[in-house]
Amino acid sequence: MALVNTREMFKKAYEGGYAIGAFNVNNMEIVQGITEAAKEVNAPLILQVSAGARKYANHTYLMKLIEAAIIETGLPIAVHLDHGDTFELCKSCIDGGFTSVMIDGSHHSFEENIALTKKVVDYAHERGVTVEGELGRLAGIEDDVNVSDADAAYTDPAQVEEFVAKTGVDSLAIAIGTSHGAYKFKPGQTPKLRFDILEKIQQRLPNFPIVLHGASSVIPEFVEMINKYGGKMPDAIGIPEDMLRKAASMAVCKINIDSDLRLAMTASIRKYFAENPSHFDPRQYLAPARAAIKELVKNKLINVLGCNGKA
Ligand code: G3H
Ligand code: 13P
Ligand code: ZN
Repeated sequence: MALVNTREMFKKAYEGGYAIGAFNVNNMEIVQGITEAAKEVNAPLILQVSAGARKYANHTYLMKLIEAAIIETGLPIAVHLDHGDTFELCKSCIDGGFTSVMIDGSHHSFEENIALTKKVVDYAHERGVTVEGELGRLAGIEDDVNVSDADAAYTDPAQVEEFVAKTGVDSLAIAIGTSHGAYKFKPGQTPKLRFDILEKIQQRLPNFPIVLHGASSVIPEFVEMINKYGGKMPDAIGIPEDMLRKAASMAVCKINIDSDLRLAMTASIRKYFAENPSHFDPRQYLAPARAAIKELVKNKLINVLGCNGKA
């Protein structure tokens, strides 16, 4: 199996009423934890790389780690640029072997978003690469850009057909109440997603794959562990798993998860050092961190996304 784009994965996911997990990768242990989990449950995967991840780990290192994962697992894996914000960044990832890119023009005007997205689609499609666009703005933090609640905006269903028709994107990220990071709802607030907006979008774009960003559940077990072992993450709240299951059964074919991986890894490392304060071999604390990621991802693939057995 070689690297694949997202076309076939999304077609099967839409028809099957499940979603593909898109997990952010930044280093070897994260790639291994995710891909070992997917291999055990025979799930297709999207491994996504942000501009920040590329800056941290280097494009070539990440590509080679993902190629190694394909050799080790034999799974269909797409390597995807997460939140590309310029044509040049998308082009660099396409030229460097990515099979899918996101061009996030959601901070531009509708017309500018269309023009930028179309330029990326034209370049990508000529090279067999699929493209995700975005309409609507999520609150939270991406790289160094912090979108405040006031600047966040739900996707307007009235705009989606024109956007898809004029750009030719293969999938569309929408804003229905999810947000990036570990603080998605205020304490005391009941978590809520705008499924009415998703339904309207689904009616206007039949058989079209929708993407949900900011979809970590902020698993309480890991937040409690972080707080127990010297961390301070009061009031971290994520998206309830039943809401993600519902989205996956609808038009949502790609669910983005990064914060949950970070929390699992950090909780595990904090626990390790609390229990073994004199240890200093990185393999000793990275091995349990990798195992924590593997368990977390396995649970997501089976119990939330429903893509186990679909590779
Ligand atoms: O949406 C943002 C992702 O969690 C990536 O985060 O830009 O800090 O790598 P990053
Ligand atoms: P989380 O912060 O909820 O994990 O979202 C990740 C994401 O959307 C990456 O694009
Ligand atoms: Zn995102």
